[in-house]
Amino acid sequence: MSTAQGDFAGQLVSITGAGSGIGRETALAFAREGAEVVVSDVDLASAEETVALIAQSGAVAHAYRLDVSDHAAFEAFALRVLAEHGTPDIVVNNAGIGFGGPIFDVTQAQIDRVLGINLRGVISGSQLFGKHMVARGIGGHIVNIASMAAYSPQRSLSLYATSKAAVFMFSDVLRAELHAAGVGVSTICPGVVDTNIIRTTQIAGLSEEDRLAKVGRIDKLYKRRGFTPDKVAERILWAVKKNKSVVPVTLEAQLGYRQYRFAPWLSRLIARLDLF
Ligand SMILES: NC(=O)c1ccc[n+]([C@@H]2O[C@H](COP(=O)([O-])OP(=O)(O)OC[C@H]3O[C@@H](n4cnc5c(N)ncnc54)[C@H](O)[C@@H]3O)[C@@H](O)[C@H]2O)c1
Repeated sequence: MSTAQGDFAGQLVSITGAGSGIGRETALAFAREGAEVVVSDVDLASAEETVALIAQSGAVAHAYRLDVSDHAAFEAFALRVLAEHGTPDIVVNNAGIGFGGPIFDVTQAQIDRVLGINLRGVISGSQLFGKHMVARGIGGHIVNIASMAAYSPQRSLSLYATSKAAVFMFSDVLRAELHAAGVGVSTICPGVVDTNIIRTTQIAGLSEEDRLAKVGRIDKLYKRRGFTPDKVAERILWAVKKNKSVVPVTLEAQLGYRQYRFAPWLSRLIARLDLF
């Protein structure tokens, strides 16, 4: 029997993309609150590092390699988690990649990759674990990581913003669908958070040299902003405890949310600025 203590003691949490940034900090935060954590990432070594960090505090976690855009692999992963650890109480669909560049430079392969990871990965995680949470009949919670890009149009971010807007609406619909089963759904919309995401962002139409120069400049701005992923993790745990629907995290994400609602014309004007 588990002797763990904390707000999530005895609960099983599954988090994708948990080898870095927001996913890793969320795994650490849930583990600190007593949860057992299934840590998955397309980069197994990084998932193992997260598990090692969790183990230092005496909590239990398990590392898996998972590419969330591969539905068959996600299905096999879900079956293994269910068989070896049980039905998760909380599922965090966090894995995501950045992507920029003018739409006419974007290739079909790039469209498939961004939508495959950022959108289909969230849908797969919600379907594959959600149906077992509902069947079990004791509730649970699904957290989907969108972005302030879901409601902040920005030139050269069409694909990324579209994937996140789709996650936003998917999550609102899922929340309604799972309400009667007592499974909550939260949509987290972070703003500018200092993680690895910018460094790994692909930009359509740029040479690797130009891409590195551009992401280097943006990464400096993210660092200067100084909002760290552990603070997003805090809000994720809060959203689960309070069963919040939409949670914009960071001041710019909160202001952007209101602006798009009350003065969408201003959002559309700002979208024309060449920020990315
Ligand atoms: N950092 C920000 O400013 C910011 C803002 C808004 C939203 N987000 C969202 O937060 C989530 C986490 O991003 P982050 O900032 O922590 O980035 P990150 O790059 O630090 O972490 C993302 C993790 O996802 C993993 N990953 C990438 N492709 C994957 C795949 N196909 N399958 C499984 N794992 C995969 C990466 O290996 C990495 O460990 C993403 O969905 C991102 O879009 C981030």
